[in-house]
Amino acid sequence: METKIFTDKLEDIKEAAEIIASGGLVAFPTETVYGLGADALNAEAVGKVYAAKGRPSDNPMIVHIWNGTQLNYLTDEVTEDMELLMKAFWPGPMTMVVKRKPIVPDVTTGGLDTVGVRCPSNEVARNLIRFSRTPIAAPSANLSGKPSPTSAQHCIDDLTGRVEAVIKSGDCQFGIESTVVDMTGENPMILRPGMITKEMMEAVLHKEVLLDPTLLKRPDLFNNGDFKPKAPGMKYKHYAPEAEMVIFQGEREKVKEAIETEKLKAEKEGKKVGVIVYEDESLAAHDFFAKLRAFDKEKVDIILAAALAEEGVGFSVMNRMFKSAGYNIKEIK
Ligand code: TXA
Ligand code: MG
Repeated sequence: METKIFTDKLEDIKEAAEIIASGGLVAFPTETVYGLGADALNAEAVGKVYAAKGRPSDNPMIVHIWNGTQLNYLTDEVTEDMELLMKAFWPGPMTMVVKRKPIVPDVTTGGLDTVGVRCPSNEVARNLIRFSRTPIAAPSANLSGKPSPTSAQHCIDDLTGRVEAVIKSGDCQFGIESTVVDMTGENPMILRPGMITKEMMEAVLHKEVLLDPTLLKRPDLFNNGDFKPKAPGMKYKHYAPEAEMVIFQGEREKVKEAIETEKLKAEKEGKKVGVIVYEDESLAAHDFFAKLRAFDKEKVDIILAAALAEEGVGFSVMNRMFKSAGYNIKEIK
């Protein structure tokens, strides 16, 4: 299949929207990561997304709408908490898991009776949805298992020949995927952490926002039977760079010293070393996936990364970093 490259100008977005409306696949920018879109209400089109990504088909997709009122189209139950979160964080990097209406096909939700809905703030994304005249199902536009794409080039690298088109726009504003929050219980529960944190939601709702308990577990220390995250996607091998990756965790200055020592040692052995040390968590979110892909291109042999404090957005970045490294953690005392 030939993959068309579109610009992010309106005429091009309109053409891309026609591809979506006629059942094709288009990679497009959002403020979090690039998404691989298909008409969410067209089961056959959504089925092609799983194939293009090499993604397991029990992993439900997020359905993107261009304005909040479209939510009524996908669910009958819009609670007061949902209204409050929408008002505070939409359009933006938050996905709400809600009871679905029958109009949403099984293949879009991986057979679940709920659907994840998100209204992105990126204008290119919103126009694409609007011109398509249908909600757009979109997972991250990477091959399954690879780091999520934060630039158009990442999508082109992974999906050329596998999708109808890629919309080439700028790098993503945030760089990690949306916060996924389950709204079907008494208290909202975060299934995947992101830029919108538990504390930010609690400030709006004036009630406790829960964390899926598996977010606090190290899956490598549990046998698989005990590790059942509520977002099916959280159980898969994820974000893995080609190189071995080690996370150094401990007191900041000591961690930096240990990384420096390890780097010199590895270089003496003739290895090419990639180092990841961030001082700022938002910058880390913005840069992390792109960095992993850059190291793949440079063919580094080993990646040495400094852990961030697991607070606020740091918690969300570390959720990705642990997975990338396959929980290969070195405690520095
Ligand atoms: O920022 C984002 O959310 C990006 C952009 C493109 O919008 N999309 C994205 O999609 O990250 P994806 O498919 O890579 O990740 C979706 C996550 C998965 O972990 C999936 O299991 C979970 O959301 N999810 C989706 N629908 C769900 C549902 N109904 N119940 C529980 N988890 C759900
Ligand atoms: Mg993904």
